[in-house]
Amino acid sequence: MDAREAYAAALVRAGVPVAGLEWFAHIGSTNDRVRELARSGAPEWTVVLAAEQAGGRGREGRAWSSPPGGLYLSVLLRPSPAAASRLPLAAGVAVADAVREHGVPARLKWPNDVLVDDRKLAGILCESASGAGTIDWVALGIGVNVELDPATLPPELRGQTASLRALGASCSLPEAAASVLAALRVWYDALVSHPESVIDAWRARSAAWWGKPVEVRTMSELFTGRAVDVDAEGALLVTTPDGQTRRVLSGDVVRLRRSG
Ligand code: BTN
Repeated sequence: MDAREAYAAALVRAGVPVAGLEWFAHIGSTNDRVRELARSGAPEWTVVLAAEQAGGRGREGRAWSSPPGGLYLSVLLRPSPAAASRLPLAAGVAVADAVREHGVPARLKWPNDVLVDDRKLAGILCESASGAGTIDWVALGIGVNVELDPATLPPELRGQTASLRALGASCSLPEAAASVLAALRVWYDALVSHPESVIDAWRARSAAWWGKPVEVRTMSELFTGRAVDVDAEGALLVTTPDGQTRRVLSGDVVRLRRSG
């Protein structure tokens, strides 16, 4: 059985239907392939997988180191604009649930970093194209450290990265893909039918940062405050020292380790 067949068989075993499945031994980025497929009219739930990526992308313009042993998966979705805005959080919930199924108690850091003891286990990148009031497509890219050898990561990432294998979970890459896609189906349906349930689920899986000092970095500014909640649209709410509550729609948040 080749790798593509192994993934297809794992999806069948898990009862996860997909509209199409591509697997690459090497690729630039699975999100780029989904973008090409989207532009050529491929249906929702077309899935692209790769054993390694030469140009893996992360959030906020960062690279996503993609050596063999990681799950590199992108899904083509065509959500409504209302669903699309909460999709990054829904995907985080799905990945957290998928890894929990393999005994790994992951928590979420806004918007969708999947962490175990402050080390990153998985990351999610949503890239999309939209028209007037519509979303044409979303490439939902998910990277999970399944059986990564830390020695294959850049030295600066080794101490900050967790992997399923190092945490004692013995799941294969196809099993991990099937778990992620099964959970994504559940939470995508929830997103469409009960969008607020996704926010509640996200809160229930979030890392215990509420009320703690954080630094927020957006495209245009850097400020500190205390993270207090997420709102109904999934924006992070941060109270600043002058008593204002700011809504953060995109960016990065870092916990400050000073007392208080
Ligand atoms: C992040 O946490 O910064 C997001 C990382 C997303 C990585 C995945 S791997 C599959 C897909 N292809 C990419 O180039 N990126 C995403």
